[in-house]
Amino acid sequence: VVHTVKEMRALRKELGGPVAFVPTMGALHSGHLSLMADAASENTSVVASVFVNPTQFGPGEDFNRYPRQLDRDVALMRDAGSVSAVFAPSVEEMYPSKPAPHAFFVEPQGLRSNLESIARPGHFRGVATVVSKLFNIVQPDVAYFGQKDAIQCLLIQHMVRDLNFPVRVHISPTKREADGLAMSSRNAYLSADERRVAPTVYRSLQAAEAAFRGPQRERRVAALRSATLEVLEREPVLSVEYVSVADLATGLEVATDLVPESGALLSLAVRLGKTRLIDNVVLREREREQSKRKGEGDGAAADDVMWLWAML
Ligand code: PAF
Repeated sequence: VVHTVKEMRALRKELGGPVAFVPTMGALHSGHLSLMADAASENTSVVASVFVNPTQFGPGEDFNRYPRQLDRDVALMRDAGSVSAVFAPSVEEMYPSKPAPHAFFVEPQGLRSNLESIARPGHFRGVATVVSKLFNIVQPDVAYFGQKDAIQCLLIQHMVRDLNFPVRVHISPTKREADGLAMSSRNAYLSADERRVAPTVYRSLQAAEAAFRGPQRERRVAALRSATLEVLEREPVLSVEYVSVADLATGLEVATDLVPESGALLSLAVRLGKTRLIDNVVLREREREQSKRKGEGDGAAADDVMWLWAML
């Protein structure tokens, strides 16, 4: 476990390649551990970072109460045995205040109209900034992210392309509890009653997915959104922030109908008491998914972003 940029750079020189990187904010759960296991199975070395990044939290968000438990996280990673090194910097190490305050940020322009960006002003600027810094410090060959934060995945894919980071982005499918709730460090905030209601979030997405895949082959955005909302609204304690149907490659909202062969991301954010939960499913034609998995249709797979999503 190292805490400074200097130590991390020295350690990086010792690691055998390819080097994978799993950035986290700690409070690790099995979703993180499975990302690390995926990373270890496909690479020689795995670096994980644990850093609760202040610049991606807005005023009034949960930066102060976000769980910080480095010793427990390190013990979990040690037991799982997938990680070669952990980078756990302080805020001052990442955002020095002396001699002059840290003043450079990475500003994503493209995803500004995405509903998650609108709901959390400044959030993706903070994510893009810290992930750029971490990429520069760790210099991985490949970085692993979970599909639960789908817009974050898109953002990183776009950033890597636009700013020419020599890093491949790997997206692993969302890990879920047995009742379907997407694993998240924020689930720890839920009371027992809230925890009982929380699986409704995924059930609402499954309802829309059933309409998309079922005999009616629903492609109208309004109908897919209503199918989701209908399930969410059965639980009055859930307050819906948004339900988004966005193009899988651009992250932009789809206005009316899904184009048959291009994929869509159905994602949502709800509040359950004081906790904000997000989740998503990818809606795309099965035939296309399967042919991509088999490595067919290479022409279409030329688009990196689509190819990465097709790996899900
Ligand atoms: O997904 C997260 O935990 C964070 O947004 C990340 C990528 C570690 C950046 O702080």
